[in-house]
Amino acid sequence: MSKCAFSASSRLLWISSKKKKVGFYGNSCGSSETIVKDEVRKGFYRDQGVAAGLVRLHFHDCFVKGCDGSVLVDSTPGNSAEKDSPANDPSLQGYEVIDSAKARLEAMCKGVVSCADIVAFAARDSIVITGGLGYEVPAGRRDGRISQVSETFTNLPPPTINVDRLTQAFAKKGFTQEEMVTLTGAHTIGRSHCTSFSDRLYNFNGTTSHDPSLDPMYASQLMLQCPQGNTNPNLVVPMDPSSPATTDSGHYTNILANRGLFTSDQKLLTNAATVIQVNQNAWNVMLWRSKFVSPMLKMGQLDVLTGNAGEIRSNCREPRSDAAAKAGSFDSKSSCGYEVQHSDNICEPQKDHASLSKSTGDMYLKPSLKMQHLKVSTVTSEKKHSSETCVVDAGSNRNDPSRYGTSKVPSIHGTEDALSSPASVEDASAKLTKLHKADSTPKIDVPMLVNTIHNLSDLLLFHSSNGSFELKEGDREALKDVILNLHRCLSKYSEQKIPTPESLFPQQGTSQYLAQLSEMFELY
Ligand code: HEM
Repeated sequence: MSKCAFSASSRLLWISSKKKKVGFYGNSCGSSETIVKDEVRKGFYRDQGVAAGLVRLHFHDCFVKGCDGSVLVDSTPGNSAEKDSPANDPSLQGYEVIDSAKARLEAMCKGVVSCADIVAFAARDSIVITGGLGYEVPAGRRDGRISQVSETFTNLPPPTINVDRLTQAFAKKGFTQEEMVTLTGAHTIGRSHCTSFSDRLYNFNGTTSHDPSLDPMYASQLMLQCPQGNTNPNLVVPMDPSSPATTDSGHYTNILANRGLFTSDQKLLTNAATVIQVNQNAWNVMLWRSKFVSPMLKMGQLDVLTGNAGEIRSNCREPRSDAAAKAGSFDSKSSCGYEVQHSDNICEPQKDHASLSKSTGDMYLKPSLKMQHLKVSTVTSEKKHSSETCVVDAGSNRNDPSRYGTSKVPSIHGTEDALSSPASVEDASAKLTKLHKADSTPKIDVPMLVNTIHNLSDLLLFHSSNGSFELKEGDREALKDVILNLHRCLSKYSEQKIPTPESLFPQQGTSQYLAQLSEMFELY
């Protein structure tokens, strides 16, 4: 069977996307997603604002020339790159997280993981670390070689436009109006520079007042934070002041209270359909969180480069020269050459940026947005993990209100579709068994194994907290065994004594021994 053929073991993580697949780096760089997650986590500990930056980075990457990492490229004397656009400079942040992840990945598996994929993983991890739902990211994007500032003007919507123009801007990228409304919910995290909305505060439409659609109290607060005539380019305000680092429905409740920061946000109340969606999302955070996953995945598919198109950069800030690319990592080894089992997309007809038709317009030509780069508040975690091998996913503590505000919703770490169907769980165990039994030197893909356990436990937790099933006595016993096994496994790497079933599960209620267990491990 050709290496390009669809193989049984890749079926486990295959999702409907024809272009890319979940688990793309499974054999070529198995820890890639764990490393990106770790770098996001470290970045978040240094500065919580970085999570919002990474989500926006993915948006700005995908809307301009597709998700090809072009937003990461530095300008050169002969070329002004996307990142120098007023839409990106100085407001876009998170580049350092991508750089650190890339450096680690290059050290571990040179020339394999694309910058575009790192951005997509990091965006997902940022959603999760701020309390949103996790999802599996199909990967296999390749990096573009071109990054031009001019492309941003026509593809990134400015914050000053109304619903109709916003709808058109998203329709051009294949999104429905509802998907557009759902995606803007990302404004529940992060901050904005004063210059992005100060036109609403002073001399609005030639008057001496502020935008009348803005709540007067809020307008006064904003005026204090962003004084008229202040030339400090670093002034920022949180977009959802009550929970700026939590992926909740704050964006929509703010809009309903006339506290949407941008014209483009507040205008969602001026259209019959969008006002209904704003209301639904505001009152049902779980609905919005789950609705958000699908358009995010769709966004991550925009105009991706696959197969031989583009390249795998070794430094996300610099495309390799065409000559280097020809002689480099993706020539003779090209589509099927790594010791990787690629998906069949590698053998599909290729598309390159040159063939992409791009619309023109004047969407983001507002030079007033230009200013210096800024750092938002630096928050240092009180408890840091010391060992990489025992990284605890942000999802593990997403129920901790002290860390994530009021968010108490467990994430489904991975799509439900992929894991809830019996077939895919069977596939998962078949794959794991195969990994155990394969040839004379059994290899275990530890990150995959751990991720699978993690996904399944999240799924179980999600359904049990929903009350959608009850654990029977036999199930509870089986779960105790699982916990015991995991505990024994972890004990190997810590000072902990190897527990006995009696020490772990005395005659107590489930919640009590789970609380004890998490105390033992000090999960965050
Ligand atoms: C609907 C059209 C959109 C407009 C007009 C818009 C505009 C903006 C503007 C002006 C900022 C503030 C930048 C600054 O001055 O610092 C911002 C921030 C942000 N946007 Fe959007 N945006 C849109 C859609 C989206 C989408 C689709 C996403 C992601 C799915 C997103 C995610 C974010 C995030 C997370 C931030 C905070 C960034 C940070 O704190 O670093 N936005 N947006």
